Amino acid sequence: MENPKIAFFDAKPYDTSFFDEANENFNYDISYFESRISRETVPLAKGFDIVCAFVNDSLSGDVVRTLKDYGVSLVALRCAGYNNVDLKAAYKTLHVVRVPSYSPHAVAEHTVAMMLALNRKTHRAYYRIRDNNFSINGLLGFDMYGKTAGIIGTGKIGKIVIKILNGFDMNIIAFDRNPDKVFADLMNVKYLNIEQVYRNADIISLHCPLTTETYHMINQHSISIMKKNVMIINTGRGQLIDSKALIEGLKNNRIRYAGLDVYEEESEYFFEDFSGSNIDDDVLARLMTINNVLITSHQAFFTEEAMKNIALTTLTNIKDYAEGNRLKNEICYKCGEENCRKEKEGRCF
Ligand code: NAI
Repeated sequence: MENPKIAFFDAKPYDTSFFDEANENFNYDISYFESRISRETVPLAKGFDIVCAFVNDSLSGDVVRTLKDYGVSLVALRCAGYNNVDLKAAYKTLHVVRVPSYSPHAVAEHTVAMMLALNRKTHRAYYRIRDNNFSINGLLGFDMYGKTAGIIGTGKIGKIVIKILNGFDMNIIAFDRNPDKVFADLMNVKYLNIEQVYRNADIISLHCPLTTETYHMINQHSISIMKKNVMIINTGRGQLIDSKALIEGLKNNRIRYAGLDVYEEESEYFFEDFSGSNIDDDVLARLMTINNVLITSHQAFFTEEAMKNIALTTLTNIKDYAEGNRLKNEICYKCGEENCRKEKEGRCF
């Protein structure tokens, strides 16, 4: 494919600056659209060969089918997660590539920043001092040392979180569908079943993908078996947590702290400025009123290093496609694995 035309959705100023810089070495024809891709905005992709999308773009079955009709043949996700793409609808005609890892360090470091901020209440202390209030009443924290962290999902990000928490001399327990025993031995991690992790952790941190299996894994039942005063951190995907159950858990003091970089209905609000209007989402608005809840707007990935990697990997994925090379970051339509061998043999579906 010669000089492919790229429709870049949900473009923010920081995207255009990092992509324009990286594109100096590729010289692709990129049109930036501020809108997210959705049923309503998909016509913007007419006449383009490739669509570049981010986490809150909605590539539902309808959108995917329309893209196919327009002759778009590649969706280049500039993120790791792909739960917003109907892969089944894309099967065989629309290739989907992603950036599997741009900086697991960025996300892991933000995760631990949230733990420490909530524990030592720095977000509250900051506002007190600005109001000339130097009292430390109510700001009591706890030593991380000796506490038990429960890590759910020990892939790239979970592993770095574990390495950092090991620096605090915490006990680390973990659950993963595919446990890495070698890593566990090296890092003194004890793999347990999910219920045991819920029951024993002082801090639970979510680092598994959103799938039908993990949807609302933090729910009324799982919360009911957790240790009292547990801290829950979610830098994975919003829908891992049933937010209403989380609010109940916070209200009845089973959950003491929640750090949320993602939220199940975040696509309505996150990444946008609503300072001039009201928040219609009552669940989000309620969470925002609780001072032991720290919400960030899906910014865990947002470091200079990660943005450079995202731009470079996305444009390299596009180059591989345009030049007919092997797509090393293509997602298997069925299992979501990259370069799934079964899919290549036509057996995964
Ligand atoms: P990864 O693919 O390296 O690791 C995911 C791990 O979860 C794997 O070890 C896998 O075996 C495990 N897993 C899969 N299903 C599971 C289940 N049902 N229960 C327990 N474990 C399960 O992915 P990585 O790079 O560590 O990212 C993890 C998640 O973090 C991504 O899926 C994405 O949703 C989220 N993320 C969030 C970002 C942010 O800015 N907040 C940025 C990047 C990723």
